[in-house]
Amino acid sequence: MVPAKSLIVIGFGGLGKEVHWLAARLGVHVRGFLDDNPNLLGAEFCNATVLGTVSDWKAYSECEFIIAIGNPRIRMRIRDKMLQYGVPNFATLVDPSAVVDFTQVSVGEGSLICAGTTCTVEINIGAHVVINPSCSVAHEVVIRDFVTLAPKVAISGNVHIDSLAEIGTGSCIRQGLDLGAGSMLGMGSVLTKNIPESELFFGNPARYIKNIG
Ligand SMILES: CC(C)(COP(=O)(O)OP(=O)(O)OC[C@H]1O[C@@H](n2cnc3c(N)ncnc32)[C@H](O)[C@@H]1OP(=O)(O)O)[C@@H](O)C(=O)NCCC(=O)NCCS
Repeated sequence: MVPAKSLIVIGFGGLGKEVHWLAARLGVHVRGFLDDNPNLLGAEFCNATVLGTVSDWKAYSECEFIIAIGNPRIRMRIRDKMLQYGVPNFATLVDPSAVVDFTQVSVGEGSLICAGTTCTVEINIGAHVVINPSCSVAHEVVIRDFVTLAPKVAISGNVHIDSLAEIGTGSCIRQGLDLGAGSMLGMGSVLTKNIPESELFFGNPARYIKNIG
């Protein structure tokens, strides 16, 4: 799960810098960043520079890539844009302090598991998933593509989280629940019921707030 090649981090925001830090912890060399904000060209973090915009990725096709942007929809849009120009090699990065047994946990390409997260058994994590620091993912959880877990999310067993869903910081999810595609659970929530597709819930207990489709 450690990329053999140099890494290009897509996104020069907070998560991008955290991914640079994660890469350093893995001993992976960061070649630089790509970011679609033209004002960031040449900006630097820990000796790695913003080299260009996302469409410049082909110039670095010998590298591996990770899309370090927290918003699931933007992450998917960037992946789709990259695919217009070819097939990039996406890295899968797991912090050395995360507890992840790859005989029990499958992790798709482009996914990121940050420091202090624990995943237990029979867990399926899709592609381009972002799991922020100190999350807890229990048995038989399914996390589909482009999901984001903010820091300190606690997911009980047998929970299914569909693609593009986003779970806010410090939220807890009761066992056996389903979170629909593109749904969101606000920070600090206690989820006791399923969330249908494209709906925002928050609170304790979490309640329907609005449709965000
Ligand atoms: C749920 C969320 C998306 C709502 O954002 P929003 O639509 O911009 O909502 P607002 O900030 O305008 O808040 C609207 C109201 O809901 C309340 N509210 C917002 N989020 C809440 C939450 N998670 N729990 C309880 N109440 C919340 C606000 O206090 C406000 O109440 P008021 O009308 O009485 O003043 C956002 O608050 C949230 O939780 N985002 C996730 C943050 C996070 O986890 N970041 C991780 C970064 S790594």
